[in-house]
Amino acid sequence: MLRKLAKWTGIVLGTLVLLLLAGYFLIARSIAQRIDKTYSFTNETLTIPNDSATVSRGEHLAVIKGCTDCHGTNLSGKIMIEDDALGRLSSSNLTKGKGGLPADYSTTDWVRALRHGVSRAGKPLLFMPSHETTMLSEQDMAAVIAYCHRIPSVDHELPANKIGPVVNVMAYLDKMPLLSVEKIDHNRSMVAKVDTVEGVAMGKYLAVSCSGCHQPTFKGGEPAAPGFPPSADLTRTGNVGKWTQAQFIATLRTGKTPSGHQLNNEYMPWKMTAQYDQKELASLYQYFRSLK
Ligand code: HEC
Ligand code: HEC
Repeated sequence: MLRKLAKWTGIVLGTLVLLLLAGYFLIARSIAQRIDKTYSFTNETLTIPNDSATVSRGEHLAVIKGCTDCHGTNLSGKIMIEDDALGRLSSSNLTKGKGGLPADYSTTDWVRALRHGVSRAGKPLLFMPSHETTMLSEQDMAAVIAYCHRIPSVDHELPANKIGPVVNVMAYLDKMPLLSVEKIDHNRSMVAKVDTVEGVAMGKYLAVSCSGCHQPTFKGGEPAAPGFPPSADLTRTGNVGKWTQAQFIATLRTGKTPSGHQLNNEYMPWKMTAQYDQKELASLYQYFRSLK
């Protein structure tokens, strides 16, 4: 009797393991196919101004849009994730040094990456938030590119990406922004310029950078990645609804909330929000406060 039970238990467990393996195999294959897909978009170019005001605007954007967080302070790329479960993901070396962008990487290539989320070869850029950079105005995109054209070359070769099981499953369940190319409305035309007057419109434009973690509704919720705490509600119904503009700004500058909670930069990039200027933070506050 016992032996029979053990036998059946073994069969049931063995079947379950096989089913799970088969399921995982299908998921991994599906993601591999999506990663390997070649996209083709009409080539677009932009006029890249060279004046110092544009270049310093580009430098500011590279900081507040997190380019320097992910690509490193000198934009020479870095290994962002490396472990058995997640695999390995590196950001690109954006300089013209060894391991960096080819010497003839053109403005069209930059626009293709920032607007459509694909490499020069038309392959999806993994984990690069192009669904956010695509929302940049033409003027701001040109400024970022103008700045990147000027950064000193750094020799830095990065290891190839390797997608781990957790990333495969998360990407499959759409819990991780691995393939931004699939999230972009590729036919949307770029806005030429945005309003630079402090207020709700400017806040809304800047808040695109917060939407990845705080959700497009800014109501917070589901963590951005496995192991992250849930993000906060930034609308009137959350803590921000109780804070003054000065308290909001102080929180994003120091990482410390009015109640004394210290935000962890690993999860909530306050060292990045600390680089926003006064007008930008005030605009973000006014925008969030306009959301019910
Ligand atoms: C969340 C992290 C993250 C942020 C923020 C980010 N990037 Fe990336 N970026 C990546 C990763 C990762 C890759 C490499 C993708 C790959 O290898 O498939 C990449 C690739 C690129 C590429 C493609 C280069 C090539 O090899 O074809 C460009 C261009 C680029 N990023 C520019 C930028 C700029 C400019 C910004 C800021 C406006 C920015 N990135 C912000 C993670 C990021
Ligand atoms: C990489 C993910 C990520 C990004 C990007 C991000 N946040 Fe957060 N944010 C979080 C997480 C997670 C928390 C909660 C942290 C905690 O509870 O310690 C948080 C907390 C906050 C808080 C504190 C809220 C409270 O109720 O205590 C504010 C304010 C905030 N974020 C504003 C912003 C703004 C503004 C932006 C965009 C400019 C932004 N965040 C971008 C992940 C993110």
